[in-house]
This record gives sequence, structure tokens and C-alpha cells, in this order.
Amino acid sequence: MQRLTIIGSTGSIGRQTLEVVESFPELFKVVGLSAQSNVELLARQVRRYHPEAIALGDEAKLPALRQLLPDWAGEILVGPQGFEELASRDNYQTLVSAAVGAAGIRPTLTAIETGHDVALANKETLVAAGHLIMKAVKACGVRLRPVDSEHSAIFQCLEGKTKKGIARLILTASGGPFRSLDPAALAKVTPEEALKHPTWNMGGKITIDSATLMNKGLEVIEAHWLFEIDYSAIDVVIHPQSAIHSMVEYADGSIMAQLGPADMRLPIQYALVYPERLPNNFHRLDFFQLGRMDFAPPDTRRFPALALAYEAGKAGGTMPAVMNAANELAVAAFLARRIGFTDIPRMVELAMGHHQNEGIITEPTLDEVLAADGWVRSQFESWLRGIGR
Ligand SMILES: NC(=O)c1ccc[n+]([C@@H]2O[C@H](COP(=O)([O-])OP(=O)(O)OC[C@H]3O[C@@H](n4cnc5c(N)ncnc54)[C@H](OP(=O)(O)O)[C@@H]3O)[C@@H](O)[C@H]2O)c1
Repeated sequence: MQRLTIIGSTGSIGRQTLEVVESFPELFKVVGLSAQSNVELLARQVRRYHPEAIALGDEAKLPALRQLLPDWAGEILVGPQGFEELASRDNYQTLVSAAVGAAGIRPTLTAIETGHDVALANKETLVAAGHLIMKAVKACGVRLRPVDSEHSAIFQCLEGKTKKGIARLILTASGGPFRSLDPAALAKVTPEEALKHPTWNMGGKITIDSATLMNKGLEVIEAHWLFEIDYSAIDVVIHPQSAIHSMVEYADGSIMAQLGPADMRLPIQYALVYPERLPNNFHRLDFFQLGRMDFAPPDTRRFPALALAYEAGKAGGTMPAVMNAANELAVAAFLARRIGFTDIPRMVELAMGHHQNEGIITEPTLDEVLAADGWVRSQFESWLRGIGR
């Protein structure tokens, strides 16, 4: 029986993790759950999964949560420290890190430093603090398993191989809903259009990131840290059908690919039970229904976010944290209809330019990473005004 704590249990990954748990009650027990503000769903999850403790980010929602759980005797932790406290407990083995954004950094690092394995969905953690996370993983002797489908694919393609033979990692990208739109049309897309992903059903922020290709950029940085591969050996290929989840090319030109249905429960399940394989009733990939697989190079002229992410990753230090924070805020501003779709990479580029001028900190501490993230959050409104928004 593996005991799990889920940070972000009310989100898309959190809910799908609970579906996996529910399919294998003999294998998993949930002891910790958390949400930022969705108290209705968190309360329903408490009644269904009986955790020992839960964490709620938004303190103002605590009275509402207590009202929804009048007879529940478990502990409710609050605020960002509540997530860290939940992650530090010794009542579980694996943290499912499924919060969205840089808010995932502290609980994930806390879980690692207190000796827990991590199933990592929260890619922003590795983007902003990859050097610290990977150092802590090694120092604490814990296992970090990727949940992101691309990294799960690469992880599977690398099984039993030595790093020496790897020529390159090839991340596949659906290309998002605007793959073939021209720049003028791209500038006019609405949040509703951008939230319609062609192949995956995910939370709001990652769906917008997929449409701008920033998601693939975040994944390039994530892959760099997870697999310790130089950026020059990480490529992106547009593959609209999302049947191949990613590939590894070896020195001899042989390419290993992992294919499967576009269903996040598969990589979640694998991250939890690796190296085992569990049977399930998920939809199977049907080659005859699929019919064909297409491939194209990414167009970084129309989707500059991908190139910005490579740039930030190669610059290293605090630059990826700055890029990530600017992107989080720009996506929120786009969803709030304050900026247009093409303003998202524009704001990211602006933030990176300012940071370049102010000076990147190489090998930053956690406080310096979080300070860089906070600096973007404190400047963002004035940058928005600067571009007339
Ligand atoms: N969805 C996917 O298929 C998928 C695939 C690969 C990787 N990922 C990655 O997994 C992570 C989660 O994605 P998602 O799609 O599941 O997101 P989501 O549906 O938006 O859910 C986010 C979760 O995080 C919580 N949360 C929001 N703000 C928070 C904060 N400041 N501190 C702590 N928790 C907070 C939310 O609580 P409330 O519900 O209360 O707001 C919710 O439980 C992201 O990093 C994403 O890139 C997702």
C-alpha cells in the first residue's frame, strides 16, 4: 500500500490521480489533499478519500470549508505554509506535485528534503528551480518520477539504457489549436478559442501554454534538468495527433518512441508504480482509427515563446524563474481579457530583457529564485501599462 499526498488535488492532474487511486484501492491510500480555493470539491474529496490532513491555500475560504465539513475530525492547514507542512509529514511515501505554477516549488522541495519520493506534474518547479530540485533529489536519495506525458515517454524510452548513447531527446507537441493560423489572426484569438485544446483535456494555464507553445518551452527546460541533457540535444517536433508522446534518438540513429492514448492517467499511474505495469480500462490507441501521423518543425516566428524558453534555459540562473513568472502573469492577464494572445510572449520577452539588464544571478539559492519570481510579480502591472494595457 503506497501512501500519497497530493498538492493540487482539485486540479486536472489531482482529480485524475484520484481516479487512479480509486481504481486500485489495494495499492494506494490518500493521506493528504490540498486546494487553493475550490473548497466545494476539496470537501467532496475529503468525504470520499478520508485523508488525515488537508491544506487550503486561500485562508479566506477556511470558514466555508469548515462549514462543508462539520463532522470531519482531520486537520486543516492553511496558506502556503500549509502546503509545505503537509508535504513535510512522515505519514506518506509519495508526493504528487500537481499544483499549478511556481507555487509548487516550496512544497515539492520540502517533500524531497524530508525524504519523500515525488511524482512531478508541476513543471514550473523544475523550470524555475531545476538545479536546486535535482541537487536535493540526489542528496536525499529520493526518486523523482515525471508525470508530464512527454517526460514519462522519454523516461520509458531511456529504461535500461546508458546516458552515453543518447544523441537527442525529441519532444512532440500537438501544436495547439492555432497551429495553422497566420499572425494577424493569432493576435485576435479569444480565451475561449485558446482554451479548446485539440487533443488533451487539461487545466486552464497549461492549455493556454500549449496554444502559445510556451508549454513545450517549459518542457524543454524540464527535460534538461530531469535527464541532464544539454539544450543543444533537445528538439521539438510538431505532431498534431499526439499519438507519439516523445522520443529518444540514440547515437546509432535508432529512435525509441512511446505511444499511447492522450490520457494523463497513464503517465500518472506509471509514475506511481514504476517499474510495474498495471492493467486498466483506459482507451487504447487504435492505429487504424489514427490512420496517419504527421510531423512538422515548430514555427518560432509565429510562436516565439518556444524560442524564449530555450533562451531562458540556456541563460540559466534566475532567468527561467523570471520567464516562468512573466508567463504565469501574462496568461492570467490574457484569460482576464487584459492583453491579447500575442502579447503573452511579448510580456515574457519584456521581463527577460529587464532581467538581463538588471543582471542574472547564476546558481541562485531558493530565496534568490523566489525573489526573482517576486520581482516579476511586483513589476508586471507597470510593464503592462508600458505596453498600453
Ligand atoms: N492537466 C494536465 O493534463 C497536465 C499535464 C502535464 C503537466 N501538467 C502540469 O501539472 C500542473 C497542474 O496542472 P493542472 O492542469 O492540473 O492545473 P489545474 O487544473 O489548474 O489545477 C491546479 C491545482 O493547483 C491548485 N492551485 C492553484 N493555485 C495554487 C497555489 N497558489 N498554491 C497551491 N495550489 C494551487 C488548484 O487549486 P484550486 O482548484 O482550488 O484552484 C488545483 O488543485 C501544472 O504545472 C501543469 O503544467 C498538467
